[in-house]
Amino acid sequence: MASPSGSPLRHLLGIDGMTPDDILSLLDLSETYVDMNRGPDKKASVLRGRTQINLFFEPSTRTQMSFELAGKRLGADVLNMAVASSSTRKGETLIDTAMTLNAMHPDVLIVRHYDSGAVKLLSEKVNCSVINAGDGTHEHPTQALLDALTIRRTKGRIGGLLVAICGDSLHSRVARSNIHLLNTLGARVRLIAPPTLIPAAADRLGVEIFTDMKKGLVGCDIVMMLRLQTERMQGSFVPSIREYFHFFGLDRAKLALAKPDAFIMHPGPMNRGVEIDSEVADDIDRSLIRQQVEMGVAVRMACLDLLSRSRPDGGRNTP
Ligand code: NCD
Repeated sequence: MASPSGSPLRHLLGIDGMTPDDILSLLDLSETYVDMNRGPDKKASVLRGRTQINLFFEPSTRTQMSFELAGKRLGADVLNMAVASSSTRKGETLIDTAMTLNAMHPDVLIVRHYDSGAVKLLSEKVNCSVINAGDGTHEHPTQALLDALTIRRTKGRIGGLLVAICGDSLHSRVARSNIHLLNTLGARVRLIAPPTLIPAAADRLGVEIFTDMKKGLVGCDIVMMLRLQTERMQGSFVPSIREYFHFFGLDRAKLALAKPDAFIMHPGPMNRGVEIDSEVADDIDRSLIRQQVEMGVAVRMACLDLLSRSRPDGGRNTP
């Protein structure tokens, strides 16, 4: 993966701006890590001697755990900064925190922050590589990459598929990164949601919009469900959870409207009975949710591996 100047990419901040080749080479590299993770020897040494710091200002299970596992499997020393008990609680700004960590010579920072754009800002203040693990409602690039890897391994391709992204796309960085990636690789994307949960600029994102889920699901190859992200909402965006589930929750009857071989995805965490019924979420023949988690580790190993090659010293952070 190279920046427009041709030099290797230093940060991974978003899918927007990545070329098909950038994405495909990351997916190809991820495949080698899928194999490694399934074997008995899960340890490589490409990041030996490197230091990775995970800096999560928002809660996370899958993303943080898989970044930690990915770094450790590649031989890095991995630290998790406990934000809740750190000096950020004493009023230290994001930039001061970044500068403090930077002085300790990490090689890569993995950052999740509740403000859109905060991770890019931080990346401009440090010498090391930065990976965006989700910034506000903006981007979550490694989630889109792991979703793409899951789709490609299941369907054999991404181009030409019809993907429905259903639910709260207004507040979803997962939706935004997936829209960029799927469009870049030639898939067609539908957003399905009540009008209150569709982004205002959706018509400029290259997607089709459906406010009737039953119509939107017809002919879809992939049905990607999103959580109602109430922590990002001010006020109420849906009349009631019961009504939301009735019209926009994925159950067996609605899934039957998609293609017979359509697969279900969800980035997690799931709210069962809100956006998805347990019966379909747990259907191992139709649900790819567990595969998504598995692919998350491999994709994050590929991203760490690739960014570590970008530094003039091969990523080694000399004192
Ligand atoms: C998502 C996120 O944090 O953006 N989760 C994840 O990373 N797997 C989606 C969500 O919180 O609903």
